[in-house]
Amino acid sequence: MPLADEVVVRPASSSDIPAIIDLAVEVVGHSVSPLRESRLEAVQEYRRADLQALHEVLALPESGIFVAEDRQGRLVGHVIAMAGRSESSTGELQGWIFDLSVVPDFWGTGVARRLLERAEDFVMARGLRFLGLGVTSANKRALAFYERLGYQEERKQMVKTLSPRASEEEH
Ligand SMILES: CC(C)(COP(=O)(O)OP(=O)(O)OC[C@H]1O[C@@H](n2cnc3c(N)ncnc32)[C@H](O)[C@@H]1OP(=O)(O)O)[C@@H](O)C(=O)NCCC(=O)NCCS
Repeated sequence: MPLADEVVVRPASSSDIPAIIDLAVEVVGHSVSPLRESRLEAVQEYRRADLQALHEVLALPESGIFVAEDRQGRLVGHVIAMAGRSESSTGELQGWIFDLSVVPDFWGTGVARRLLERAEDFVMARGLRFLGLGVTSANKRALAFYERLGYQEERKQMVKTLSPRASEEEH
């Protein structure tokens, strides 16, 4: 098993962005709800295009993007955090995790914990009390991981797959 203490966690630079995007695209399948019946390739294509925004996001003072790098200089994980987003019911400013990904070889080695704690420090240093995130309910590994690190369920996001009713009513 790879050793996490041979891994360095540091702030990301713009030259890391292609590897961050490749990793996020590689593991995005774990975050896709089975309700969606999405084709993995289509999701990966969408994710890759969406993440091009990281080039601008990295320059924002409220963004905290950190990478984990192994001895060979290979990027083995990243976390993308933002400080100062409004919480939807109270309006209180808090931190938010947009992505946390680790290469599967390094799962279970503590790299994700180190990345998330780095993001927590970043958010706390900006005077914020809370750090939020969204997890797909089917992503049991991530849910267990976040619970282990002290995150609690606060709200449920619900969805219904819509279909025409059997008895059509006139509207
Ligand atoms: C979710 C993810 C980041 C977790 O990474 P990981 O490498 O397993 O996490 P770590 O090794 O740092 O584990 C940290 C702690 O969580 C615990 N943990 C991890 N997975 C667990 C599980 N399935 N059940 C219980 N505890 C778990 C570990 O035991 C460890 O606890 P300890 O430090 O007290 O021993 C990783 O699996 C991943 O990149 N998944 C794909 C992307 C993803 O789903 N990201 C989250 C999107 S919101």
